[in-house]
Amino acid sequence: MTAEKPPPFDPLHERDLGAFTGPAIELRNITKSFNGFKAVDDASFEVMPGEILGLLGPNGAGKTTIIHMLVGLTTPTSGSIRMFGLDLAAHRETILGRVNFSSSYVSMPYSLTVAECLKVFARLYNVRRPGPRIDELLATFGMSEVKNKPVRHLSTGQQTRLNLAKAFINEPKILLLDEPTASLDPDIADKTRTLLVQVAEKKRTSILYTSHNMQEMEKISARVVFMHKGKVIATGRPADVVRKFEGHDLEDAFLKVIRGGRA
Ligand SMILES: Nc1ncnc2c1ncn2[C@@H]1O[C@H](COP(=O)(O)OP(=O)(O)O)[C@@H](O)[C@H]1O
Ligand SMILES: [Mg+2]
Repeated sequence: MTAEKPPPFDPLHERDLGAFTGPAIELRNITKSFNGFKAVDDASFEVMPGEILGLLGPNGAGKTTIIHMLVGLTTPTSGSIRMFGLDLAAHRETILGRVNFSSSYVSMPYSLTVAECLKVFARLYNVRRPGPRIDELLATFGMSEVKNKPVRHLSTGQQTRLNLAKAFINEPKILLLDEPTASLDPDIADKTRTLLVQVAEKKRTSILYTSHNMQEMEKISARVVFMHKGKVIATGRPADVVRKFEGHDLEDAFLKVIRGGRA
C-alpha cells in the first residue's frame, strides 16, 4: 500500500497558514523612485503573523507609497517584497487573494449602492456566502441603514467605513490600511480599533496601517516603523521608539524628530 503524498506546503492555504512562522510581510531594501526622487529609500522591515504594525511619519514620508507597493498598485524600483515567504512579483495573484486593503483616498464606484459595491468585491474574491457576509460587515461598521444608498450620497466617514467593510470581505490574512480611522467619529474609530485587535489575535491576520493619531499608534501597535523622507528611521515597540528619541510619548517623539532635525 502506498501512502498518499501530502499536499505541498502552501503558506496561503488555511491548512498551512497556522504552521507558517516566518514574517507575513517582508520588505528588503525597498526603494521607489519617481523621476529620480526617492519616495521610499532603502526601507526594510517585516510584519509577523497576527502582528499589528503601525507605519508613522509626516506627510510625504513614503507611507502610502509603501502600501501601494504591497498591494501591487505600483512596483518597487529596487528591493524585494515577500508575503508568507513568497515573492510578490512572482506570485502576485496567489498572494493578493489573501490580502486586502483600504484607503480613504480610493473611492468606490459612485453610481453603485453600498450593497452592490460589496457584492462586486465579494465576487472578485470568491466569497462563498456573500449575502450574510455583507450584512455582517455592514452591521459591524454601522452601515446597515445605508445598504441601498448609492455611494455618491454617502458622507466621508461612511465612505471610509465602506472601504473598511470591503477590506474585510475576503477574511484577509494581510490587511493594509492607509489612515483607516482618519475620518471616523470617535465611536466608530474605537470600534474599528477593537475589530483590528480582534482579527489580529483571533485570525492571526497581519495588519499594517498608517495613522497620524499617535495615541492610537501606542494603543494598538505591537511595533511601529517610523519613516521620514523615505527612510525608516526607527523600528520597534512604541515605548522603544519613544525612548530612542527621548520623548515623553510617541507624539512628543514625533515632534522632536520632525522639528528638531533629530533624524
Ligand atoms: N506617483 C507619484 N509621482 C511622483 N511623486 C510621487 C508619486 N507618489 C508619491 N510621490 C511623492 O512621494 C513622496 C511620498 O509620498 P507618500 O507615499 O504619499 O507619503 P505619505 O503617505 O507618507 O504622506 C511625496 O513626496 C510624494 O509627493
Ligand atoms: Mg499617505
